[in-house]
Amino acid sequence: MTLRAVVKGVGHYLPERIVPNSEFEKTLDTSDEWIKSRSGIERRHFAADGETTSNLATKAALAALADSGLVADDIDAMIVATSTADLTFPSAATMVQAQLGMNKGFAFDVQAVCAGFVYALSNANALIVSGQAKRVLVIGAETFSRIMDWTDRGTCVLFGDGAGALILEAQEGTGDKTDRGILSTDLNSDGRYKDILYVDGGVSSQNTGFLRMQGKEVFRHAVEKLAATAHTAMDKAQISAEEVDWVVPHQANIRIIKGTAKKMNVPMDRVIVTVQDHGNTSAASIPLALSVGKSEGKIKPGDVVVTEAIGGGLAWGSVVLRW
Ligand code: UT7
Repeated sequence: MTLRAVVKGVGHYLPERIVPNSEFEKTLDTSDEWIKSRSGIERRHFAADGETTSNLATKAALAALADSGLVADDIDAMIVATSTADLTFPSAATMVQAQLGMNKGFAFDVQAVCAGFVYALSNANALIVSGQAKRVLVIGAETFSRIMDWTDRGTCVLFGDGAGALILEAQEGTGDKTDRGILSTDLNSDGRYKDILYVDGGVSSQNTGFLRMQGKEVFRHAVEKLAATAHTAMDKAQISAEEVDWVVPHQANIRIIKGTAKKMNVPMDRVIVTVQDHGNTSAASIPLALSVGKSEGKIKPGDVVVTEAIGGGLAWGSVVLRW
């Protein structure tokens, strides 16, 4: 008997305000055409004043609970992947716990920037297969609009706010690749690249700071590292490119998504793409794409899904699962 972390439900929440590329033309030397052609982004959502990451996360969690037919008290652990928590402490996860009225179990944040959701999934899987938790709520939630330098056209047009949530449940499997649930994980980081994508402030630096990125450099690492981690996770799960039903990549740039899919030998009609509507929502982008993919009738029970993400650190990784 092998314990597997099986998807019970998924959900997402996007703030009401939608900002098209044309908005940036009013204040910056940029164009809808440049943003679309260089990144694939057409619009993004921005949180309202006072709307925090834990508020978005709670709404996504409620949608995932409804999709699973569960209530908050059925959950015994919660992980929130975020780099934009409401407060320095307590964790965004405990804030979500309070908003859900979930008074038991344990909750904590994981911070691996855009790779946060694959890190959180991997941690949730470890909790389940080691018997420490039966049902884990895994959330990716961000308000990156709060750390944008609105005078930097190289970054502020690329990011958005949102949240997605997945519920994983311990179920018995046979131990082979026909099992439903998480089949393999692969995590990596390399702090030598900390200066190509970072926020120039923080608690210990005594200012909030803004996101800074050497876009071209990050791009250069992205395709190569994403394809490598996906291949490693697929090899561990003994899943070939032909067996992959859906690649659900981190949604940073359509050119990175296409380049990685090509290296993985998976055609674009088997890739979930939401970057045009959401922009880069960091740790929220994969659960948002999973939720959209499911609600559009694309991702179905039994499908093999490969997620892959890279972000500040650099940190990157991949999770292979059977839906
Ligand atoms: O989620 C975490 C991971 N992040 C990423 O994966 C992002 C990775 N990087 C990228 O997606 C791309 O590098 C960008 C979309 C950020 C930029 O695309 P690029 O093709 O690498 O463009 P570039 O940085 O080489 O810039 C080309 C030109 C520059 O002008 P010059 O120096 O050639 O005269 C930029 O100043 O485009 C200029 N530029 C802009 N022009 C109009 C940069 N931003 C803008 C803008 N509008 N918003």
